[in-house]
Amino acid sequence: MPGVRTELPPGPSESPLLQAIRFGRDPYGYLERAAAAHGPVFTLRLPGDPPRVVVCEPALIRQIFAMKQDEILASPEGIPVNLGKHTLLFLDGEPHRRDRALLTPPLHGARLDGYAATMHEVTRAAIATLRPGARVDLHRFLQDITLEIIVRCVFGVRDPAQRARIEGPVVRWLEGTFVPATFFAGMVMGWGRVRDLLDRAAERALQGRTGALARRLPWNRVGAAKAEVLAYLRADLEHCRTHGIGERTDILAMLAEARDEDGEPMAIDHAIDELVTMLVGGHETTANTLTWTLSHILPRPDVMAALHDELHRVFGDGGVDPRRCGELPYLEACLKESMRMTPIAPAVPRVVARDYPLGDWTLPAGTILFPCTYVTHRRADLWSEPNAFRPERFLDGDKVSTDRYFPFGGGRRTCIGMAFARFEMRIVLATLLHGARLRAVDTAPKRAIIRGLTVAPVEMSADFSPRMG
Ligand code: HEM
Repeated sequence: MPGVRTELPPGPSESPLLQAIRFGRDPYGYLERAAAAHGPVFTLRLPGDPPRVVVCEPALIRQIFAMKQDEILASPEGIPVNLGKHTLLFLDGEPHRRDRALLTPPLHGARLDGYAATMHEVTRAAIATLRPGARVDLHRFLQDITLEIIVRCVFGVRDPAQRARIEGPVVRWLEGTFVPATFFAGMVMGWGRVRDLLDRAAERALQGRTGALARRLPWNRVGAAKAEVLAYLRADLEHCRTHGIGERTDILAMLAEARDEDGEPMAIDHAIDELVTMLVGGHETTANTLTWTLSHILPRPDVMAALHDELHRVFGDGGVDPRRCGELPYLEACLKESMRMTPIAPAVPRVVARDYPLGDWTLPAGTILFPCTYVTHRRADLWSEPNAFRPERFLDGDKVSTDRYFPFGGGRRTCIGMAFARFEMRIVLATLLHGARLRAVDTAPKRAIIRGLTVAPVEMSADFSPRMG
């Protein structure tokens, strides 16, 4: 077709390794500088990966989010954890649609109300562990809260002994995986190789084939922790199948009972993959978003005063009623504004299944499209004062279209946990602000780093004093 270019859009010219290092060290800044130099559509090249075409143009983002099922493939790029071949994240086409239909109900609507008390209780218990005057590493603190929420709501873990059995291995597995070394190994060796290495280690551990000396190697330690998580989930799923689920309403119990269209139960391996996906996709994302939110609001006395006024208006002098946290529009606007300025997923990948026309280009099959939240969310032609934290912009109730604001992605792969995460973040933030007085140790804007799969502020500490009693 005349006028359509078959080469890829221009982009940074340094070597793929240097691009990876610079992107890894400063993800937001690197994308921002590349967009300033090359315009709203540019190509990043990272070692071992197909080229990534970064897109910060609403009309093209709209086109990408409307892509048909057979035009896109799931992208495991950038994910060092082997979530298994049945995970929603790596499924395409009909199997993807079928699993989404199955997993959507427990993460939406009235089912969320059933999780409210747990989310509130976990946050209150975490606040109760803090000594007055303690200096709190907010990321660690929030990660402990969101992990426990996922473990209780998704895995249905109830008593403390059971919790200790699962939380220890989960933390050792994920913290061992999401170290900078894994990120750089993924960038240099390719993510597939890193996933295979860690997965073979878990397989060996599951089969008891790791020798005494080899157990000390970092990837074997990580593999052993993952093997413990998998063994726990398998035992609980089998227990549910054999003894029934009783009063349980968690997602693990629901998957144990799930039947496909032919009435066949879901294979245990399949259920495990989906549960692990919820765990990995569901706790660090929420913890990082909450940490970013506190990094924006704590240094702002005007915003904090407005938040406390709202909490007082709704809850008076009593405690937070978690079922009423939907009545806090200003708090909700702070969360939205935080996700605009500092989205934990700076871009959402899509792999094109066949040659694909986008704007002035035809992109070859296998290219990774990278609609970029961060740069689009900061465009001065789309947002007034884009670099200022102004929650008021989300107060008028107008829905912002997903071609310019998409912290949870868009189209058929939109985050399935979005409603759960927003519900949870409202309860955790309201409970925290109502029950604790937090003062940021350092009020300077925070640098972004890649933590796990997502982007977090480099360091965020606050001094704690109790608010009530
Ligand atoms: C603030 C919290 C969260 C943020 C910002 C977030 C963000 C995202 C983003 C950007 C995507 C990719 C969407 C796309 O490709 O268009 C995604 C996918 C996904 N998220 Fe979340 N997420 C959050 C919380 C959660 C929670 C709580 C869960 C589960 C309990 C979850 C489970 C998933 C899953 C399973 C997918 C893959 C969906 C698919 O491929 O069909 N997320 N999330």
